[in-house]
Order: sequence, then structure tokens, then C-alpha cells
Amino acid sequence: MAKDLSNYRKSYEKEELLESNCPKDPMDLFKTWFQNADESETVEETNAMSISTIGKDGFPKNRIVLLKKFTSEGFIFYTNYTSEKGKAIEDNNNICLSFFWPGLEQQIIIKGKAEKQAENLSDGYFNSRPDGSKLGAWASNQSTVVTSRNELEESLLSFETRFSGKEITRPKHWGGYLVKPISIEFWQGRPNRLHDRIRYLIEEDFSWKIERLAP
Ligand SMILES: Cc1cc2nc3c(=O)[nH]c(=O)nc-3n(C[C@H](O)[C@H](O)[C@H](O)COP(=O)(O)O)c2cc1C
Repeated sequence: MAKDLSNYRKSYEKEELLESNCPKDPMDLFKTWFQNADESETVEETNAMSISTIGKDGFPKNRIVLLKKFTSEGFIFYTNYTSEKGKAIEDNNNICLSFFWPGLEQQIIIKGKAEKQAENLSDGYFNSRPDGSKLGAWASNQSTVVTSRNELEESLLSFETRFSGKEITRPKHWGGYLVKPISIEFWQGRPNRLHDRIRYLIEEDFSWKIERLAP
């Protein structure tokens, strides 16, 4: 079986990214790009991002999670702390996040350090979730092998019974990570493969060095 994709080719022509449009703080540019993507009809699930970690087995692994908040400090997502990614972060908290919004011909790549968010903040977000999602966090021992779909359904039922008529509290193994960026690269597709790449790198005094990278 083979399929040749060598003629899959697209010219990127929508926008440009010039140094003159780059604010000092990359979070300001992230906010502008994110808002624009959020308003664009071409982008679905603007906040879906890939996160890559280096696992205990030495391999990198990517998967999608949802960005739930960004602040001047960094990027927050929620997950199970005992999942494969949780264990990887415990060992090595250097991680990479990336967004790709094809309709805008834009990519953002963030390298940073992940830290568990303060418990009260994780509680706050957990409490804002629908009951079904709260129970799902209890029912799923994320990343472990299960014998069948049925096992999951039964686990959900048992937690529905356990919490019936009671407040569904946050499981301690579930919460947020704050990713504090050390570099953020903005990629804007341009014609003739001469794409714009602007990288912000954090300096010792926490200011940002802005550099253009060859595409
Ligand atoms: C659109 C989308 C959104 C997702 N959002 C999350 C999320 O916010 N948190 C999460 O733990 N998993 C999320 N997942 C599932 C993850 O991709 C992944 O399957 C799960 O976290 C287990 O990953 P791990 O075994 O590598 O730890 C999402 C998947 C998709 C496709």
C-alpha cells in the first residue's frame, strides 16, 4: 500500500509577521493571535493545543489538551496527575506546547516549565465543571489499561452512587498545570516558503530577546 503526497502543496499568503508588529512581551502577541483565531470562522477549538513531554521511556509524546487560561505568568491546562503525561512531567517538567491554526496559516510553539497549579485554583476550576465531567475525572484512571468499555461505565456508575446527593469534590490526582514559558515562537506562513518566524527567548532579567529565525 502506498500513496504519494508529493503534490500536496499550498502557498501561504494570508498575513505577515514583522518585527515592527511585535510587542516586547510575547504574551501580548499571543493574546492578539488567540483573539483573532477565536473570532475567525476558520478555526474550531481555538484552545486545543498539542503538549509534548519526554517520557520515562526516553521518547517524546504529543497529545492534545485544552488550554483553559492564560495570564502574564503562562498557560494553564488540566489533567490527571497520575496519567502518562503527569508521570513524565514529574520526572522532567520541560514541556512544549503548540497551536496550529491552518485557516490563518499560523503556528505557535511554546517551550516552558510545567508546575502544578495551587490546589485552591484547581478546586475553583473543577467546581465550575458540569457534574458529568467531575464524575469522569473520578471514574477514569487516565492512561491505565482497561479490560473493556464496560469497566469504565461501571466505574462511572459507582462514583454516581458514591456522590449521590453530595458535593462532587476534586480528586487529588486531578488538577491544573501552569506552564511558564522560556521561549515562544510565532510562525506565519508566507509565499515561496519564506515564512516569518519570530522567536522570543527569556533573558536572565526576565525581559525577552526577539529574534527572526530562517524558515
Ligand atoms: C480536542 C481534545 C481535547 C482534549 N483535552 C484534554 C484535556 O484538557 N486534558 C486531558 O487530560 N486530556 C485531554 N484530551 C485527551 C488527551 O489527548 C490524552 O488522550 C489524555 O490526556 C491522555 O494522555 P496521556 O496518556 O499521554 O497522559 C483531549 C483530547 C482531544 C482530542
